[in-house]
This record gives sequence, C-alpha cells and structure tokens, in this order.
Amino acid sequence: MSTATVTPAPAQAAAGGQHIVPSRAFPEKFNKYPFLFSHNLANHPLFTLPRLMELALETRAKRPQELYYDAGHNVAIGAKWNELERPPLEEAFEKIETAGSWITIHQAQLNPEYGEVFNGCMREFEGLTGLDFKKMMRVEDALIFITSPNRTTTYHIDRECNFLLQIRGEKTIYLFDQRDKEVVPETELEKFWAVDKNAGTYKPELQGRAKPMRLVPGNGVHIPINDPHWLQNDNNVSVSLSVNFTLKDSERANIYRANYFLRKAGLKPAPPFRSPITDGLKNAMMNASYVPARSAIRTLRRLRGQETRTS
Ligand SMILES: [Fe+2]
Repeated sequence: MSTATVTPAPAQAAAGGQHIVPSRAFPEKFNKYPFLFSHNLANHPLFTLPRLMELALETRAKRPQELYYDAGHNVAIGAKWNELERPPLEEAFEKIETAGSWITIHQAQLNPEYGEVFNGCMREFEGLTGLDFKKMMRVEDALIFITSPNRTTTYHIDRECNFLLQIRGEKTIYLFDQRDKEVVPETELEKFWAVDKNAGTYKPELQGRAKPMRLVPGNGVHIPINDPHWLQNDNNVSVSLSVNFTLKDSERANIYRANYFLRKAGLKPAPPFRSPITDGLKNAMMNASYVPARSAIRTLRRLRGQETRTS
C-alpha cells in the first residue's frame, strides 16, 4: 500500500502574501476526489502551542460550545466520540505530550488574527477552484486540531467540505471512497444525514481499500463531503488547521433524509443522483420544513410507484 506525499512547499512558493500553492488539482478534483496540496503556514506564529492555549481559553470563555476535547490512550479506530474521556482543558494542553489528548477549536476565525489567515485561505481556495464560495456556502469554520503523540482520530464521516492544512508534526490520514458501497452503505449515509452524525461505522476488514496520505508541515489534503476517514498521529504533537464549510445546497442532505424515512416506511429507495425527477420530488418535500416526520413518511409513501419495496 503506497502512501502519497507532497514535498512541503518553501514559504516563498506561495508568493505575494498568499498561503496556498496553486495546482491543477483544485479545479479538477474539488469535492470529487481527495488530493494533496502545499501551503506556507507551517511556521506561522498563531499556531504555537502557547498561542493556541490562549485561543482555547478565550473560546471556552466566549463560545464554550465551539470547544471539544477528549483524552485516551489506545483509542480504537472505530470508537465513537461520545464514548471518550474529557479531562480539564488545562490538563489536556499541559500534558499534551502524554495525555493522549485531542483538542478541537471551532470558529477560530471569530478571533480577528485567526480570521485574517482563514479569510485569506478561503479567498485563495475560491480563486484556485474557480468557484464563488459565498454563493455556495452555508456555514464556514476555521477548525484547529491539537493532537497528542500517537493519538488516533477515530473513523468518521463529515458533512463539511474540507481543506486540512498540516502545521506541525506528521501523521497519516486514511481516506475511503464514499462511492464504495461496501465501505459506505446507503443506509449509513441516510442515517448520517437524517439522525446520527456518528453513523459512519469502521469496517476493519476493508481497511485495505483506504488511501493513506502522509501529512507533514507545509502540506494539506482536500477531503470531499462524506468521504470517510481516520487519522493516525506519529510520535509527535500535531497541529492542523481545517478550512471547511457546509454547502447551502441541501439537495444531497434532503435526498438522504427522504430515503431514511422511505426505508423506515418499508421501501427500498433509489440512491441520490440517479433520477432527477425522483430526486427533485424528495428534495421539494424535505424542503417543506413544516412537514413533520410522520407526515413526511405519508407523503413519501405516495411516491411508492417510483420506489421498490424491500420485501
Ligand atoms: Fe474529519
């Protein structure tokens, strides 16, 4: 199993005060396939541990819901986030070398200094992909990860479109293809979008289908929405910046939610993006947010002629 790498870019590679090194992968692969890229944030002073501790304390004081952290040794790849221990924040930071900590700070861009870096990256990603993110985007997030040596980030699926920039330390991300339905059955995606963000379930027997990519200071990886992944940190403290956003276009979410209810109603719904007519009906129905779930199921049953029963 080969591991892809991108040589860290020297700071001058992204000239003119820019952070991201251009590549053809941005327009060709954005939100379709994962790819590595280079950036120049590896030695940026905002990402030292003392400065990040300040940001974490500020976040806890002003927006505690934007801070998540846990700790644990030998965390299983398939463990769920709600199963892990939560030490005091100060301890998670001060014992970062030994505590098995995983600290995440959301919405870092609300701090003006981090906001300047985040907004700069967003503008560059927009230019590199050729897309108008402001038209597409619903919620943006500058998410910072601080990870203890050898810590595993458990297997999961995200609803965000993600550019993950490695700042400090080295680690490996194992990315799976959501088009592989043995890895990601439709039922998991339906449950994920409808009711359970922890619905992605690791299947150790399929680990060989993951694409491992090495993350080193100065490179990063683009992760399309819903591509499952887990990460293994090396024997070093890791700091990463996730520049991510959810999309305004809720069609994908609506179709999966509709399919979740259809399956509950005893049907075998067609996966999304096979029939524009059926997808449109499901999307329109789920957009009618005043329709409660039971009514939604009744409406969906009327579509039965376009769906196949499970039994
Ligand atoms: Fe993720």
